[in-house]
Amino acid sequence: MKRYGYPFLLLLALLLTAGTPALAGAPLPDIPEAIKGEQCVEDTEFMRRNHMELLEHQRDDTVRRGIRTKKHSLKNCFTCHVVMGDDGKAITVSDPRHFCRECHDYAAVKVDCWQCHVSTPEPKGDKL
Ligand code: HEC
Ligand code: HEC
Ligand code: HEC
Repeated sequence: MKRYGYPFLLLLALLLTAGTPALAGAPLPDIPEAIKGEQCVEDTEFMRRNHMELLEHQRDDTVRRGIRTKKHSLKNCFTCHVVMGDDGKAITVSDPRHFCRECHDYAAVKVDCWQCHVSTPEPKGDKL
């Protein structure tokens, strides 16, 4: 311990907190990276804030007006936002590492989509 003097420890502390001054020490959601695509279906910042409205608009368009486009479909999200489990298969929302859960668990948001929709790129059983 003696070899690392006060200036070194101060420097280390500065390095560790640099760039994240306000967040130092606070745990943040560890959002899994998309496995595909240069970018999201819309600007990432926009998606972070507005994905719920976008999904809900898409649903209204599909269910009420019969319009179907792939771009904002729920299933299409998982072509890029997929996390592989230890068995090499895409994990579902029952796993806390799922893309849609990292932030939602953190923000204590619950969505009820998965009783009808799949949370993986592949259709399963009678889910959409
Ligand atoms: C009770 C069952 C049910 C629940 C719960 C549900 N949906 Fe759906 N959703 C449907 C059905 C049925 C369709 C129409 C599918 C079609 O006609 O292609 C649909 C279509 C959609 C579509 C457009 C088509 C597609 O494949 O993306 C989106 C987006 C969507 N839902 C998002 C959501 C989201 C987000 C939630 C949760 C907040 C949710 N849904 C919850 C039944 C459900
Ligand atoms: C073509 C691939 C692709 C598709 C399809 C896609 N995304 Fe993305 N998404 C990305 C990429 C790339 C990023 C940038 C961050 C990264 O690399 O993980 C991103 C970022 C995001 C973020 C912000 C994540 C963060 O790190 O803050 C959200 C939320 C998001 N996407 C939601 C969605 C939703 C909801 C859908 C379906 C409607 C969707 N995405 C479809 C590729 C995709
Ligand atoms: C970058 C973090 C992040 C990611 C990734 C993310 N969400 Fe969200 N989501 C949030 C936050 C935060 C809220 C709550 C926003 C609010 O209440 O204003 C939310 C809210 C929602 C809502 C509205 C819930 C309600 O009760 O109003 C839906 C639907 C939703 N997200 C769907 C999804 C789906 C589907 C995915 C995966 C494809 C996903 N989200 C991924 C952060 C995220």
